[in-house]
Amino acid sequence: MLDLRIDNAVLPDGRSAMTLGVQDGRFVALGAGLDLPAHQRVDAQGMLLSPPFVDPHFHMDATLSYGLPRVNQSGTLLEGIALWGELKPELTQDAIMERALRYCDWAVAKGLLAIRTHVDVCDPRLLAVEALLEVKKRVAPYLELQLVAFPQDGLLRGARGPDQHLETLKRALGMGVDVVGGIPHFERSMEEGARSVRLLCTLAAERGLRVDMHCDESDDPLSRHVETLAFETQRLGLQGRVTGSHLTSMHSMDNYYVSKLLPLMAEAGLHAVANPLINITLQGRHDTYPKRRGMTRVPELLAAGVNVAFGQDCVRDPWYSLGSADMLEVAHMGLHVAQMTSQAAMRQCFDAVTVNAARVLGLQQYGLEPGCHADFVLLQARDPVEALRLRATRLRVYRRGRLVAQTPAAVSRLDLPGRPSSTDWMG
Ligand code: FE2
Repeated sequence: MLDLRIDNAVLPDGRSAMTLGVQDGRFVALGAGLDLPAHQRVDAQGMLLSPPFVDPHFHMDATLSYGLPRVNQSGTLLEGIALWGELKPELTQDAIMERALRYCDWAVAKGLLAIRTHVDVCDPRLLAVEALLEVKKRVAPYLELQLVAFPQDGLLRGARGPDQHLETLKRALGMGVDVVGGIPHFERSMEEGARSVRLLCTLAAERGLRVDMHCDESDDPLSRHVETLAFETQRLGLQGRVTGSHLTSMHSMDNYYVSKLLPLMAEAGLHAVANPLINITLQGRHDTYPKRRGMTRVPELLAAGVNVAFGQDCVRDPWYSLGSADMLEVAHMGLHVAQMTSQAAMRQCFDAVTVNAARVLGLQQYGLEPGCHADFVLLQARDPVEALRLRATRLRVYRRGRLVAQTPAAVSRLDLPGRPSSTDWMG
């Protein structure tokens, strides 16, 4: 007798009228018209059942701090970094944890069950690291959190000096932070940026860790750090374990140079993460008209064979005042900015916040096939494109076969002459 059986579900790949069986927190059966005895049955009523959303790029130490101690007037990345610098001395562990846990509540309600978050490791007290390690432990029963050691002020540029910053970053890794981060475009020169990439990739290779760098997050067409990141990835044998995040300068780069760069990135097995909501907001701020969109070249990266995922990056913090842990909103923006409007491209945008993002994190047993963890979300939509169009309601969210969140279907009652009594915007 199974623990749970879900009938009449549509899967993201288009298979319909599917039955899924769950036992001991894992999927054990998947097929059309299966008749399996189960303690509990759920009728999906032809709605889309997807593996959970995965956010490959977030800043949980800063989230929900909007307005503290003031708001970002210029709307730029650089003022955001300065503002975060003003806030840092006032942070307390309790406040970071309270905000992070609140954000995780939002995430689960939105079917977002795995998040890679960067955590600033420039403060020698490592308050934020301690706080987020504790949050990671507390949320483990319902959400997977992966931490990246992120030297926000620059590994080589930070006020305490390169040796001290490297020591603090290593200490954070020793405490249990999972991934090595970096910010080469914020170092003092291209050369120093390249040196930080080499140093950090070498450190990751020595420790057997993954790398995720904020890389070329600028409108500078001559920023070249992703080239160095791809080179170091190959030199150190880190293929498939390294992510370049943001990569916004690729938007402004010379087309010939990009035609050389894309195969290098694919060869190195780099993952690319675009953060559409944030970079459409932060980039191009020095332009008059036309204003650059400031998102990396998503369709071209995908066509070159690079795994591309979309990240939320920021929610109500020094860089971005909006957001709600809704990865469908993220993908919806990505779709528009990248003009990925064909049916196939829109499905790729759905993948960018589910399976592709799971590959960035290196999640194991992610998916709907037998043997995978029974983590999934039932959406009020009949396919991924409709889910994107409606930023669909997450009707039911399951983690390891347990119902962890549910939301009533969105429906509006109408009182119109000669018209139906309600609408749900589907069909
Ligand atoms: Fe970021």
